[in-house]
Parts: sequence; C-alpha cells; structure tokens
Amino acid sequence: MQDKINELESKIESAQLGGGEKRIEAQHAKNKLTARERIHFLMDEGSFEEIGMFVTHRSSNFGLENNKPLGDGVVTGYGNINGRLTYVFAQDFTVMGGSLAEAHAEKIVKIMDLAMKNGAPLIGLNDSGGARIQEGVVSLGGYADIFYRNTLASGVIPQLSAIMGPCAGGAVYSPALTDFISMVENTSYMFVTGPNVVKTVTHEEVTSEELGGASTHSTKSGVTHFTYANEIECINGLKKLLSYVPQNCEEDAPSVHYTAGDEKRENLNSIIPDNPNQPYDIREVISGTVDGDTFHEVHKDYAENIVVGFARMAGKSIGIVANQPAFLAGVLDNNSSKKGARFVRFCDAFNIPLLVFEDVPGFLPGTDQEWNAIITNGAKLLYAFSEATVPRITVITRKAYGGAYDVMNSKHIGADMNFAWPSSEIAVMGAKGAAEIIFKKEIKEAADSEAKLKEKEAEYAEMFANPYNAAARGYVDEVIRPDQTREKLIKA
Ligand code: HXC
Repeated sequence: MQDKINELESKIESAQLGGGEKRIEAQHAKNKLTARERIHFLMDEGSFEEIGMFVTHRSSNFGLENNKPLGDGVVTGYGNINGRLTYVFAQDFTVMGGSLAEAHAEKIVKIMDLAMKNGAPLIGLNDSGGARIQEGVVSLGGYADIFYRNTLASGVIPQLSAIMGPCAGGAVYSPALTDFISMVENTSYMFVTGPNVVKTVTHEEVTSEELGGASTHSTKSGVTHFTYANEIECINGLKKLLSYVPQNCEEDAPSVHYTAGDEKRENLNSIIPDNPNQPYDIREVISGTVDGDTFHEVHKDYAENIVVGFARMAGKSIGIVANQPAFLAGVLDNNSSKKGARFVRFCDAFNIPLLVFEDVPGFLPGTDQEWNAIITNGAKLLYAFSEATVPRITVITRKAYGGAYDVMNSKHIGADMNFAWPSSEIAVMGAKGAAEIIFKKEIKEAADSEAKLKEKEAEYAEMFANPYNAAARGYVDEVIRPDQTREKLIKA
C-alpha cells in the first residue's frame, strides 16, 4: 500500500508544479502569480478542494502525445470565501500557455455545473493563450460549452471574471457573459483580434495595452468594471464584491450587524449649490447617506455621468444608480444608459434593492447620440427599471427633466417610494428653454426681448422649478429635508 500512496503523492507533486519551476519563475518575472497562488490568496485558508487534478488531454497531434501535463492547464475546484461556498477555476499559463482545449474545457464545465446545482457563485481567473491550436475544433467546441453555461447561469448564480494575463479571440466572450469583469493593470489584456491582425486589416498600429489593456477597457469600452494595480488588490476586490451579492437568485445578500442610532445627516443640507447650474459631486450625497464607507463603485471610470455601485443601508446590501451633475451635467447618453441598465438588471436578478439619486437635465442631444441609437439604449434603462421587482426608491435631489424624469425610476414605472428634496425641479425642461419655446412670439415682439425672456423664464421657474406640483399629484410621496433622507430611506 505504501508504494501506491507514494505514487499518488508524487503525482500530486507533479500536478502542483504546473509547467515547472522555470515557467513559474517566468510567470513571476512578469509580475504575475501562478494559478495555485491566486487560489491560495482568494480562498479561506485550507478550504480549497481541487477537482480533476489528474485530468489530461487526449490529443496526439503535433507531438502532444508526449506532453500530457496533469490538470491540463487549469486548476478547478471549490472552497470558501469569507465562509461562503464558491466555485473557482484558474487557468495555468505555465502549462501550454493556459490554452483551452477539450479536457481543459471539460474541467471548467464540470465546476460550472456544480456551481449551478449547488447555487453558489463562480469565479474565473483567466490567463490563457486562447484556443489550443494543436487541438483544432475541439477547442472551439470547449469554448462554446462554456459560453452556453455562462448564459444558463446568468441571473441564477453570480459569475465574476478576473483577467490576469492574455484573453484574446473568442475567449473574451466567456468573461463578457459573466456579471463583472476585473482587470489587472499592465499584465492583462482582452481583444477579439490582436494588434497584428488589426494592422493587416485596418493598417492601424496599436500595442496590446492600447488595444485591450485595463485602462482602455475601464475608460473607453466599458468592458471591464474594475481595474487594479496588481493581482493581490484584484483578488481582494473580488472578495469585496462578493460580500454584496447573494449566493444565488433565490437568496438575499449577506447583511452585517447594524444598531440603529442617530440617522440624521446634517451635512446633506449643504451639498446642493444655490445656483442650479453649478455642478456638485453626487458621490458626496451617496457617501453621506449610506452606512459608513460601504459604497463600492462599479464602472467608476466609464460613462461618468451616471454613478452605479453597491453599498449598505442599515447593514443590508443595496444597489445605487445616481446621475452625476459633476460630469456632463448628469445627462443621460448612450453609454450611461447601457451602464445603468446592466447594473439595474443585475440587482433585480439577485434581490438587491435599488436606490436612485436623480439630478438629470434630460437626454444628450446630437447626431452622435441619435446615430448611435440613444432611442434603443435609453429604452434599455427604461425597461430595466420598469421590469425590476426588487424594492425601488428614488430621491430627486435637483433636476428631473423631460423623458429622463420618467426613466429614472419614476413612480409611473413602478418605483415604490419617491422622495424629493426642496431643491427639486420637476419639469418638461429647464425654465430658459421652456420660455424660449412657449413664449417665442411674445419674446420676439417685445421691445426688450432679453428682458421679456428673463421675465418668462422666471414665470416658468416659479411654476415648475419645485417639487410641489409632482407632490400634489402623488408622483412624489414626500418632500423631505436632505438631513432626513437616510432615516426615510431605512424606514421605506
Ligand atoms: C497552444 C499555446 C497557445 C495556444 C500559447 N501557447 N498560446 N499553445 N495554443 N493558443 C504556448 C506557447 O507555445 C508556449 O509554449 C507557451 O504557451 C507560452 O507562450 P509564449 O508565447 O512563450 O508566451 P508569451 O511570450 O507570454 O506570449 C503569450 C501569447 C502568445 C501572446 C498569448 O503565446 C500567443 O500569441 N499565443 C497564441 C494566441 C492565439 O492566437 N490564440 C488563439 C486565439 S483564437 P512553449 O512550450 O514554447 O513554452 C481563439 C479562438 C477562440 O482563441 C474561439 C472561441 C470561440
């Protein structure tokens, strides 16, 4: 028996060594951890159970029959993160560049199926040269098996992806089908076609980093939701994100202990400037309202005119969607509509109540917006709010103009409670624009057109630049002082 045990021990040792010491050193030299090191930092100590350590590929193409590394380039299994069951796969770049083929894909598929059967989150740590070139179509089939399961799992269990190395070609579509992508600066990239193909087809010269690095995807494309300076920060970010979401769509997110105290927040009374055209940072309103420093922003550097993220109120996890007056005056455009809609749908799927802070001057005009389908994209946000069945509350802090008033979780589309601060202006449009249209003739014919415009603008503002018309009809449930906001929200 001892011989057999020794044989097992040596196989385990060989599997754990991945592609060997030299390749591990090469991985470290690129400021990258190995697959096993990543799992070590991600999971609670001693909790990780590996599945399929002895799986090997079945290919004999191009000399592969003499190269059958144990585990086939991916470490898969389950364990706990802060005591909660989580399934994980980590591609091992030291083994054939972490390339994905038949057996590698089967291992990932197996833990995806287990995660769904047991209703637990799935985390993918991606670091791969893509489809294993020697295995041909079975590699492509393996990807499709994963994509299909990503889709079946969507909205059922939380799926998080971290990109910690190359992620190219069709490989990008598995992370894209998951709920959140995190990238590590300078060591990860994602693109459908790399710089060489780009150069051949479009004659553009671009580096991998420019084309698909973390900063590109966090600012220009919005493909990634989070970026981190290094892998340890990224792993800690995954754990933090997980703390706001439930195990699956039938459960609630974990809540933390909370003792009710003085919920009055005086500092909220002084955030809105007297001049309605002066910007302010909506993050001050958010952090002034929620529990401590619990606001965890998602998509921070993309479509900054809308701010989305998780936070806690009285210990419970909530999702926040807020117009940002400090960027493009908080206007809704294509990117902010898509960003907001996707976040709302995630929260709705996973029982996370939604809190909206509204200060929106309307939709952004222009050919760029219209030709890029602001009609369709604005509808996505409207649809997402309308169909959401989680508790939904809106606080109007200042402007609620035009169609954007309807879209931003208005009473009419199913919000449960709508509050307005006294600084609210709820109208079809701003007073100046409105006066120019409806009093066009009078202004034109007046001896002093400018004075007439000012007079009419003031008249319109007097009538609509307040929350009381909406409150009179019950579109707003209560007009509240800013310092009462937190108390009212917790009760609601
Ligand atoms: C097989 C691969 C591989 C692949 C890398 N390797 N990618 N083996 N299939 N796709 C192997 C290398 O041969 C090498 O083996 C080892 O992994 C490390 O790779 P290096 O090139 O030495 O590393 P590095 O210099 O860091 O470059 C990494 C890389 C490069 C940029 C990812 O390896 C590369 O360009 N690989 C090919 C990428 C690609 O075109 N993939 C297919 C994309 S299409 P040895 O033994 O020499 O150390 C695709 C379609 C998916 O994925 C469709 C899904 C629907």
